[in-house]
Amino acid sequence: MPTPSLLILPGDGIGPEVMTEVRKVIDWFGAKRGLSFEVFEDLVGGAAYDAHGTPLTDETMAKAQGVDAVLLGAVGGPAYDTLDFAVKPERGLLRLRKEMDLFANLRPAQCFDALADFSSLKRDVVAGLDIMIVRELTSGIYFGEPRGIIDDNEGGRVGVNTQRYTTDEIRRVARAAFELAKKRGNRVCSMEKANVMESGILWREEVQWVHDNEYPEVELSHMYADAGAMQLVRAPKQFDVIVTDNLFGDLLSDAAAMLTGSLGMLPSASLGAPMENGRPKALYEPVHGSAPDIAGQGKANPSACILSFAMALRYSFDRGDEATRLERAVETVLAQGVRTADLMQAEGGSPASTSDMGDAVIAALEASL
Ligand code: NAD
Ligand code: IPM
Ligand code: MN
Repeated sequence: MPTPSLLILPGDGIGPEVMTEVRKVIDWFGAKRGLSFEVFEDLVGGAAYDAHGTPLTDETMAKAQGVDAVLLGAVGGPAYDTLDFAVKPERGLLRLRKEMDLFANLRPAQCFDALADFSSLKRDVVAGLDIMIVRELTSGIYFGEPRGIIDDNEGGRVGVNTQRYTTDEIRRVARAAFELAKKRGNRVCSMEKANVMESGILWREEVQWVHDNEYPEVELSHMYADAGAMQLVRAPKQFDVIVTDNLFGDLLSDAAAMLTGSLGMLPSASLGAPMENGRPKALYEPVHGSAPDIAGQGKANPSACILSFAMALRYSFDRGDEATRLERAVETVLAQGVRTADLMQAEGGSPASTSDMGDAVIAALEASL
């Protein structure tokens, strides 16, 4: 098999800081596990805008299409907030997702035992939590037409976005959710607002169709997304796989992050259709953003980005065994009490820096041999 290729896009804010730690991990797997990657690095987001006047050049887009997996840090920040909408950092990320057709965004939320007391919810509610949110990522209100800010012809303005889903778009993300459920707890809960939106009615009908025709053995339930948000904080362990649309998935996965203790813990995989080698097109990134409030201070928790690389090992490189090794290493580090500031109570000791945490993960990997 040819050496697998990885495109690293550190991006903005804490993106480059957490990616430095992932680089250590990638190098370790190369040196100690014989898992070598051909690694390319490029700019995205504000960093690409500063260098090229666009958040994603065509060259970088082409590179992303040609590698086995893309690993992204984070994009955005206050310096870019006043830019034209078309060149905002976030547009670079959205273009990657859309043009690579990464329709299934897997956002697992697992509560490591060492962090169970750290969640804003009670230990009993979150201990042992292991849910998977599957967010549709290339359609819905993020991309629907018409969109824009238009004149209302009476001197005022109207902001327009359109929620739009086709049968095929719903069916393919539903299949991704059912496939995952089969390997986990065999349960899918689909969330929409079929009580107020036609797109929600279609969503519910099509998810049910995929279930009845292709996955009758998986348990399927439906929930309105607002009730789902409530249940997610009331009793999150009732869920196994949640499948939902682009916008609801964005909100629900940020909420789920706090169940695990910190946004700095949550990884994600964005998967598309299989390529010629049978592997899905894929981009891996933490759920968190560029965290401008702590950027440049060595405070960022690199776990979400490191765990995103673990997802790459599992979903792009068929190395679930090494993914588990890496996940256990992160868990060990937390159990040892090595914590970045986001994982500490106000009164508790001095926090580990971003690189302390990365080094501790490497030490735990070493100890796993
Ligand atoms: P954010 O995720 O950047 O930060 C929210 C809060 O969580 C902040 O207090 C931050 O310090 C903290 N946080 C986030 N990641 C952390 C980590 N790894 N370690 C410790 N603390 C962490 O969200 P925001 O403030 O709403 O957005 C900031 C910028 O990031 C915006 O420009 C936004 O568009 C962008 N953003 C990008 C992505 C992405 O690149 N995928 C995702 C979300 C937001
Ligand atoms: C995320 C982010 C992005 C989104 C932004 C930065 C475009 O919030 O990945 O969750 O809204 O999808
Ligand atoms: Mn988000």
